Amino acid sequence: MEEATGLTPLALLLEAERQLGEDAAVRLQLYAERRLAGEPVSRILGRSSFYGLNLQIAEEVLDPRADTETLVDAALALLKQKNIANPRVLDLGTGSGAILCAILHCRDDAFGVGVDRSKAACAVTLHNLASCGLSSRSGVIRGDWMQALRGSFDLIVSNPPYIATEEIASLEPEVAAFDPLLALDGGADGLVPYRQIAFDLKRLLARGGGACLEIGWRQAADVRHILAAAGFPGAKILTDAGKRDRVAVIDAA
Ligand SMILES: C[S@@+](CC[C@H](N)C(=O)[O-])C[C@H]1O[C@@H](n2cnc3c(N)ncnc32)[C@H](O)[C@@H]1O
Repeated sequence: MEEATGLTPLALLLEAERQLGEDAAVRLQLYAERRLAGEPVSRILGRSSFYGLNLQIAEEVLDPRADTETLVDAALALLKQKNIANPRVLDLGTGSGAILCAILHCRDDAFGVGVDRSKAACAVTLHNLASCGLSSRSGVIRGDWMQALRGSFDLIVSNPPYIATEEIASLEPEVAAFDPLLALDGGADGLVPYRQIAFDLKRLLARGGGACLEIGWRQAADVRHILAAAGFPGAKILTDAGKRDRVAVIDAA
């Protein structure tokens, strides 16, 4: 209603008798039709809120989830606990850039790189970094996980696609029909991206640094196993606000 009419919530309450112009009525009708077809409000508006930041979203990026704020909390706590100053941060599968923007926003001594395979996602990340005033401390690379990267990072974060291909069709329609497949599809068992990321983690993680990976709520044992095989035994698993396993934390002591 606010977006369609340009009125504030207060005006909507106090001026119930006010006639809307034809433009506003047409916009409202279109928004209502899209919502009735199951499209989330954030997608209709093209923006979402994450970690207190207003971010642009687009058809090609995941609508950032509140659960992912657990990962940001874990990453910030890790940097603090390890006393890492001027951290170099790598966000793999950055999407809208939500995680990267939140970490750089909270740590003004950090520099970050976001990587995504989707060209459109890279453009959205660049836009959001700029609108959050973070362009001068960040870069965006279009690539396949860490393949194009050299050097080392103090903090590596990722919320990779982790839904098993077969399960995608049975997700809620708001997810299955509106989040991009590239952001959801984790391969046959949902764990393919973890294997790919774990493979390169040793090469890119600075000694004394750490990594935080978002996981599906039933994936803790499998992801710990994959990480242990890649040389990172003992990953800690953190739960989200709903007490479900959500983040694997690696301390590269
Ligand atoms: C679950 S979404 C996460 C988006 C964002 N980080 C967030 O938490 O809202 C996963 C992201 O990984 C990207 N992605 C998928 N496969 C990739 C690959 N091989 N290399 C880089 N990025 C990839 C997708 O395009 C998508 O943006």
